[in-house]
Amino acid sequence: MESRPLTEDKVDNYRWQLGNLELVPLVIGGMGVDISTTELALAAARLGGIGHISDAMVQHVSDRKFETHFTKAKSEKHRATRDGFDKTTVKFDLEHLRQAQINHVRDTMERKRGPGAVFINVMEKLTMGAPGDTLRARLTGALDGGIDGITLSAGLHNGTLRLIEDHPRFRDVKLGPIVSSLRALKIFLKSGSRMNRLPDYVIVEGPLAGGHLGFGEDWRQYELRDIVAEILAFLREEKLDIPVVPAGGIFTGTDAASYLRMGAAALQVATRFTVTEECGLPARVKQDYYRATEADIVVSGVSPTGYPIRLLSYSPCFTSNVKPQCEAFGYLLSREGTCTYIDAYEAAPVDAKGRKLPPGNKVCLCYHFAKFNCFTCGHYVYRLKDTTRRLADGSWQLLTAEHVFRDYQFSTGHRIVLPADPAAATTASVGV
Ligand SMILES: Cc1cc2nc3c(=O)[nH]c(=O)nc-3n(C[C@H](O)[C@H](O)[C@H](O)COP(=O)(O)O)c2cc1C
Repeated sequence: MESRPLTEDKVDNYRWQLGNLELVPLVIGGMGVDISTTELALAAARLGGIGHISDAMVQHVSDRKFETHFTKAKSEKHRATRDGFDKTTVKFDLEHLRQAQINHVRDTMERKRGPGAVFINVMEKLTMGAPGDTLRARLTGALDGGIDGITLSAGLHNGTLRLIEDHPRFRDVKLGPIVSSLRALKIFLKSGSRMNRLPDYVIVEGPLAGGHLGFGEDWRQYELRDIVAEILAFLREEKLDIPVVPAGGIFTGTDAASYLRMGAAALQVATRFTVTEECGLPARVKQDYYRATEADIVVSGVSPTGYPIRLLSYSPCFTSNVKPQCEAFGYLLSREGTCTYIDAYEAAPVDAKGRKLPPGNKVCLCYHFAKFNCFTCGHYVYRLKDTTRRLADGSWQLLTAEHVFRDYQFSTGHRIVLPADPAAATTASVGV
């Protein structure tokens, strides 16, 4: 393997043995809210990799998919606080939450086919007015729904594993955290070792990823490759056999293979799948991703989570003056019922007609993620247009998840295979 020139190496030369699964070492990351749809995750599993669904705003996702009414019920129950800024009493019904999670997971798992697996991305940073209780309800719902694996994304609550320690599936489900540093991994390992439960894998996410970043304003100073090398060396030294899965800015199959050659078990990728037919973004937003240039990308502090988030500067959320939507949503409320968007909205100036102006420094992430108004993306979003064809009407051709997955799997020399030309197919089919 080592003698093969790097540029001729490809992902398909490797396999990831995870328990009794022999996987193509590709993982599609969890993109909330329902951007990583069931269909996208199922495509990865069918092709022998791992696909994630996401449990971000899962009550809203269940309502959209299964015509349940969890969001409406919550909104009605808490209507008294709608016009004020005190949201102390706004809480989730834990049984509703667990049921929403089961609906989402069970539907996905019942439709799974093929040699791969489906995991769920559980965002620990969604505090939901009662961080421990709501996280337990979501984790339990995922386990009860039959999920193959749970990826705990940034937040790293020390006590997370304790929340499901008594669940019958605690030792058989695959569990892994997303970390952005060796320090964060060590914290996770410490809490796991107390329960004799090491992670089954660790996703190491660098500063070029989409979504929220596990870095501060100095994110430019970090390189995914350095963090991965440090973590691999640590695990080797400690004789810990934990598969490492790098993520963030891996754009070609050759980028991916270079990490496998270093000793990574698999790669997690996401941005290239945002322009697939299976991805949950509306069609017009997929075109907004395609048209991005490097100058359009910002890493911003507008998320009330406190973590920086990478997004396109023309995301509609930036110019919105929407009232906080905590009664219906409230996924970012602290235990005390606060959210920095509520403060920003309260402090925002009003126009001549007394209407609030957009607060600017924070956005209502719940509302805007529900409406696909936050165009979060990986750093290489501006290269998406190089992965497809421009159509006669000026739009870019959508890809299938299978096309992108196979391109990662088989490409060499940083080449990216374009999709079949639809115009040529029409011409051929009419026999011209
Ligand atoms: C549109 C989008 C939404 C994302 N949402 C989440 C999320 O909800 N939770 C999470 O842990 N990671 C999220 N991510 C990060 C991905 O799961 C993944 O780790 C990362 O983007 C990989 O880098 P790449 O996009 O450069 O391939 C998101 C990424 C994108 C592009």
